[in-house]
Amino acid sequence: MTSAFSSLLEQWYAVSGRDLPWRHTRDPYLIMLSELILQQTQVSQGMDYYLRFAERYPTAEHLAAASEEEVLLLWQGLGYYSRARHLHAAAKQIAQAGCFPKDYASVRALPGVGDYTAAAIMSFAFDQPYAVIDGNVQRVLSRYFGISEPVDTTKGKKLLRALADEMLDHRHAALYNQAIMDFGALQCKPTSPACSVCPLSDTCIALETHQVDILPVKSKRTAIRDRFLTYIYIRTKDGHTLLHRRGSGDIWQGLFEFPLIESEKPLMQSEVERHILTSGLLGLGLLTGNDKEISGNGNWLTPIARDVRHQLTHQRLHADFYCLSLPVSIPVPQSSDKSLHPKPEVSTEDPSIANAQWIRESDLDRYALPRLLEKLLEMQQVLL
Ligand code: ADE
Repeated sequence: MTSAFSSLLEQWYAVSGRDLPWRHTRDPYLIMLSELILQQTQVSQGMDYYLRFAERYPTAEHLAAASEEEVLLLWQGLGYYSRARHLHAAAKQIAQAGCFPKDYASVRALPGVGDYTAAAIMSFAFDQPYAVIDGNVQRVLSRYFGISEPVDTTKGKKLLRALADEMLDHRHAALYNQAIMDFGALQCKPTSPACSVCPLSDTCIALETHQVDILPVKSKRTAIRDRFLTYIYIRTKDGHTLLHRRGSGDIWQGLFEFPLIESEKPLMQSEVERHILTSGLLGLGLLTGNDKEISGNGNWLTPIARDVRHQLTHQRLHADFYCLSLPVSIPVPQSSDKSLHPKPEVSTEDPSIANAQWIRESDLDRYALPRLLEKLLEMQQVLL
């Protein structure tokens, strides 16, 4: 049965909802694509990525046939790359099965698909009565019903699930879900919600009890860990640089970056120099015999940027960035092979370059780099 709550939301949506490209399709693959992109990304930022992916990989089969490097490169700049890997894995499963799954349990079992995304796909693609609960929905329900139970406890989650299911307009699940999400994003915003022009204001408990600013309640604040990264951008006389591919078990799995020193606290330049001269960084074999030439010249390491901050969900990265100009050429085979994944050419004990390879600097844009590295490179281009 439709409640006054859902009718008012749907009326509001008809007038004020956003016209977004993924709302013009019922194709479950495209809806999954949009939802994975939007999991940790604002609509304004995700839009271009959605359009690019939908054009390059219009079906799960197209995406399944792509290489991981290609997919990560197209994802570059969006962050949280596990989403891209999940999307790719899901596309492979769908392509293998020959069609997109149609029941909730099978959709929920796809890589990267949690409760929210499964309900979004089931409702937007198939109009099935599954209520979505994301941050926007939590906020709207907590405020409207005056829920002071923290939304991140088992009890709070149960309460919201029951309310969300009860409020869902079963006959128009897609419409209702889009409406409540847009309402949270545009009207019932985290700060400065537009209560004076809100169609639900007459019956909103938070408004009546002056709790709009304190609802929804969260029980815990997740601890943020600080990490200190010093990147060395090595540039040879003949235009090569050393790039390393990150392994698993940490941020940026599978992405490429410059050789790196990670430390407990920020490093002084003299410490960075000592590390480079004594660690595996310059024990690259290829450079043997040149160390003196490098270290004899007092200005071999140029600082480019200090304490560039980059926020991830539970980590605050602090990056220092140096440029190391080598007066040598690297004997890289001038292969005509344009593959994105040439064989590692460097072998060393240093884990930061364990999977390193020399590449032409002009080829840097063929490698998926973390956004932080892109930022650092932009600074370097301005400075050098
Ligand atoms: N955020 C996540 N999914 C969304 C959608 N389908 N529309 C708007 N914003 C969203």
